[in-house]
Amino acid sequence: MTLLDAARDVRLNAYVPYSKFKVGAALRSKEGRVHVGCNVENVAYPEGTCAEAGAIAAMIAAGDKHIAEIVVIADSPTPVPPCGGCRQKIAEFADTSVQVTLHTTDGQVFITSVGNLLPGRFDPSHMDKTGQ
Ligand code: THU
Repeated sequence: MTLLDAARDVRLNAYVPYSKFKVGAALRSKEGRVHVGCNVENVAYPEGTCAEAGAIAAMIAAGDKHIAEIVVIADSPTPVPPCGGCRQKIAEFADTSVQVTLHTTDGQVFITSVGNLLPGRFDPSHMDKTGQ
């Protein structure tokens, strides 16, 4: 099963009574496993979680820590870009060179990278003066 197949399948499980916008994400870890996530909404809207966040939580719960590649799919007019929060979440576990592939359900594809999605990201080096 490809990452795209995994993302397409998990997307169908998305819980989206409010937006009706299903998103699926699948990532392959450097440790060699595939982890998937879908968006899970809540009547208290800010409590909802994105598909990418779900896949990352599954990766960490399974004991892996490094993203090698990630795929996101949604039924959108153009390949849906991860939200700002998800860009930071992905960047926590991925090198800037890691490929991010965005798909629409009708077959459009946009390939980018973690570095392109979040230039100038906040990283641990910005806290180097703590503890002095
Ligand atoms: N959403 C994701 O799951 N991932 C994205 O990259 C963009 C947005 C979800 C959040 C919410 O459930 C719905 O899409 C509409 O914003």
